[in-house]
Amino acid sequence: MSGQTSAPAKVILVGEHAVVYGMPAIALPLSQVRTYADYQFCDHTLTVSGENSGQPSLRWSPDDKSVRDPLAAMIHLTAQFFDAREVCGKIVIRSDIPIASGLGSGAAVSAALGRAVAAILSRELSDYVLNELVYEIEKLHHGTPSGIDNTVVVYEKPVYFVKDRALEFLNIIDSLHLVVADTGIAALTRETVADVRERYQRQPGPTRNLLENIGMLTEQARIHLEAGESQQLGKLMTQNHELLQMLGVSSAPLDCLVNASIAAGAYGAKLSGGGRGGNVIALVNDSIVPTVEAALLAAGAKRIISSSITGKSASA
Ligand code: MEV
Repeated sequence: MSGQTSAPAKVILVGEHAVVYGMPAIALPLSQVRTYADYQFCDHTLTVSGENSGQPSLRWSPDDKSVRDPLAAMIHLTAQFFDAREVCGKIVIRSDIPIASGLGSGAAVSAALGRAVAAILSRELSDYVLNELVYEIEKLHHGTPSGIDNTVVVYEKPVYFVKDRALEFLNIIDSLHLVVADTGIAALTRETVADVRERYQRQPGPTRNLLENIGMLTEQARIHLEAGESQQLGKLMTQNHELLQMLGVSSAPLDCLVNASIAAGAYGAKLSGGGRGGNVIALVNDSIVPTVEAALLAAGAKRIISSSITGKSASA
């Protein structure tokens, strides 16, 4: 028997970094960009190989307790959850999500892999449990993650997320048109999160202020998002970008893409995810998607994804 599991990419609409400190943030799935895990049963051992997933191949053994490797750790946690001594199969991971680009590739690999291991074991893995397991792996990737990435990737729905609070899914009435533009620069979320922490220790008052302002902005963004007010929402996204600049997690290439999309008529734009490199998201009117795409490419974007996001998920 064989089959395929998958998980989507994600963007943070507003609130990254502040969410690590207990402020709210809003994240959306990008369903047309995904990680896939093709699995098949076999009678002995489990091998996992990656095509484009940024992960090395591995042969998993239940006795290998060195779970620093995120793939091995994810298999371990899933097998352990089901009390399984053995997992016998072959999994090939293939990902369309660029690595270290703020689009949640690590969480998507873990989620697709966990689903494939459960399928090989012929067991049901609820989103609730999968989310908990992927969160454990996110800690290996990022050190002190808020949990927003694994949550939006596993549930594949727009989320309003506050750490350690009940999860809220958002109802988006009107489609949101986003143009996602990649600087092509890989940046590790672990590093920007650590830099913000260091800044917080050095300058607690001003840093706290910035994080709280991002939190307040997220509350307002939620209102405009749910009311379908893209113009106001776009303004808040740009303000969010300015606060992230002050927090020290933007960069010249990110600022350049933000400015280019606004000059081309976007309602607003910001970096999305950990920052420094990775992607910018621009909120646009449907009619100007091609204009904004062209402006972003002219400004140096290495890859563009245009997406219409509705209440349930995103589609091309
Ligand atoms: C990364 O997508 C979002 C950050 O806020 C980190 C986190 O929430 O774990 C930068």
